[in-house]
Amino acid sequence: MASLWLAALLLAPPVSVLLHKDQDPNPPITNVRMEPGTKRLTWDLRGNVSSIECVEGSTFNAKAENNLFCQFFLLPKCTRTNYTVKVTVIDGEPYSTWIEYPKQEGNPAAAAEGLACEVHDKDALTCRWAVGRAAPSDVQYYFHLEHSSTAQRWACPRYLTTEGKHTACRFDNISAFFDPKQHLFYQFWVTGTSHGDTIPCSELFSELSKIEKLIAPNISASCNESLALLEWDMSSHLQKQFDYELEIRQGANPPFTSTVEEDKSYRLTNPGTFMVKIRARTSSPYLVGQWSAPQRFVCDPGAGALSHVWLSSSLMALATLLTVGTAVFLCRRYSVLKTLFPPIPHLKDPIGGSLQNEKMFTWEAGRPTQEECPVAELQVLREM
Ligand SMILES: *[C@@H]1O[C@H](CO)[C@@H](O)[C@H](O)[C@H]1NC(C)=O
Ligand SMILES: *[C@@H]1O[C@H](CO)[C@@H](O)[C@H](O)[C@H]1NC(C)=O
Ligand SMILES: *[C@@H]1O[C@H](CO)[C@@H](O)[C@H](O)[C@H]1NC(C)=O
Ligand SMILES: *[C@@H]1O[C@H](CO)[C@@H](O)[C@H](O)[C@H]1NC(C)=O
Ligand SMILES: *[C@@H]1O[C@H](CO)[C@@H](O)[C@H](O)[C@H]1NC(C)=O
Repeated sequence: MASLWLAALLLAPPVSVLLHKDQDPNPPITNVRMEPGTKRLTWDLRGNVSSIECVEGSTFNAKAENNLFCQFFLLPKCTRTNYTVKVTVIDGEPYSTWIEYPKQEGNPAAAAEGLACEVHDKDALTCRWAVGRAAPSDVQYYFHLEHSSTAQRWACPRYLTTEGKHTACRFDNISAFFDPKQHLFYQFWVTGTSHGDTIPCSELFSELSKIEKLIAPNISASCNESLALLEWDMSSHLQKQFDYELEIRQGANPPFTSTVEEDKSYRLTNPGTFMVKIRARTSSPYLVGQWSAPQRFVCDPGAGALSHVWLSSSLMALATLLTVGTAVFLCRRYSVLKTLFPPIPHLKDPIGGSLQNEKMFTWEAGRPTQEECPVAELQVLREM
């Protein structure tokens, strides 16, 4: 054996050629092939080998099981990939060979481009793509997603179209396919059809948790002149721990940012009138959520006792105008009524339950005093 090897060396073909499959008259493995159903790269074993290793592309290495096959978990179906098999032969030279899978069919520029997916609004998943630059005019695209380990598939329930072509797919509720008990990878897939051409597919692999756009938390506040307690809620099917970023602008001061880790409340001293917005973050995976709409809270003395304010600033402005209008109207009417009828005891909250911040605006029409009608409202008006 050793002398044979020496002879081979002296005849001196380059080593790389020695290793090439076509040049080896007696390869230790033959018929290397991909079995897409099982995601196994397999071969026929001929020689006496000590170990076999597979390399996907240039990055992922897998050790063969019983020297018979390499098991992959994510198998690209659209992106042509080089699989190299490296064989360590007992008492022989290392051997390596490669195949490409899948075969490239059709013009890659006809495939859907820029496929991107996002879990958003807590429950929904939307995937978008663009029509390929070299796509034939009759092209149509179809989407589905697949659990990479169970190979279960879901077709797109609702397409969004651009000029008659499907360019996005929306699942209103990820609970249709997402199982929180299983940590799964998904394969997102866009195939194409055309009468004249073969359209290659496009694909994307991801865990859902990595493609979530976090919703904005909802802030509520209770406050008096010395303290505002801000509280909020956050929810997601895919993330567990959140940090929060608050941006607060008090009166005419420049805004400041405060980070709250894991807790869901924040205390602001001497709050006065302030604007606040909030967004959630996660660290693993690193995600930064959407800012909430800025909300305005009025906690000044005289604006009312402990106030529960839920309305956003614009609603608040509208509510205030309505309240002031009603107040002025009712006060005028009240003075007229008072002259006609005796005071009615405990007629409360004349504007009804539609305003949740009633504590700020409620008065008792039954027990009039000089200043009861205008004061609270004027206070609020000055704040606006
Ligand atoms: C393969 O190699 C091992 C270790 O050198 C040896 O024991 C075994 O007999 C060989 N098998 C064959 C089929 O050559
Ligand atoms: C595949 O990879 C092997 C080694 O990693 C390389 O020798 C071969 O040229 C590659 N094939 C293609 C088509 O790029
Ligand atoms: C999504 O499905 C879950 C479970 O079936 C349900 O609790 C939730 O309300 C649904 N969300 C929407 C937006 O339909
Ligand atoms: C905040 O409230 C709105 C309206 O009630 C609701 O649609 C949204 O899902 C809530 N967000 C959170 C994080 O609870
Ligand atoms: C403001 O509210 C906090 C918490 O509810 C309370 O401890 C504090 O005494 C209140 N201050 C005033 C001036 O009412």
